[in-house]
Amino acid sequence: MKAMLSFLILFFVTIIACGGPSVSEEGDEAETLPVAMGEKLYNVHCVICHGKDGTLGLNEAGDLTASEMTLSERKGIISEGRGSMIAYRRILTRAEIDAVARYTKVLSGKGESSEGEEMESDTLEFQ
Ligand code: HEC
Repeated sequence: MKAMLSFLILFFVTIIACGGPSVSEEGDEAETLPVAMGEKLYNVHCVICHGKDGTLGLNEAGDLTASEMTLSERKGIISEGRGSMIAYRRILTRAEIDAVARYTKVLSGKGESSEGEEMESDTLEFQ
């Protein structure tokens, strides 16, 4: 009976373990995370090399405030990595990479600010 019980537990753990990632992967596609989420992720994963304001430039990490990269170029370098910067595609979801990339644009003063998100869509309606 005990063996049966541990078999059942193992069975369910396996289902949960295998089912988990594929569900979250589907969710990645449509989801757009707020820039504030990007800021949180940046503070966890990126400050070590790029610094809080993006200018630290450790190990020749580019000064993010001076970066002229487009959003999709940023997403590319974040997911694929370059030089001593690691590839984040296995660490962050696509939606998280998108959010953190948008946050690096905020650092260089070229992007949306987390507070301005609502306002930006408001102004667009008047154009
Ligand atoms: C281990 C140190 C390190 C970490 C951690 C790191 N980076 Fe980098 N990053 C670099 C280096 C080094 C470069 C320069 C690569 C090159 O051009 O050879 C770079 C370049 C970049 C660039 C391109 C800047 C430009 O215009 O050339 C962006 C954007 C960027 N990083 C964003 C991020 C984000 C977002 C994170 C966190 C998810 C992150 N980095 C984490 C080291 C790091």
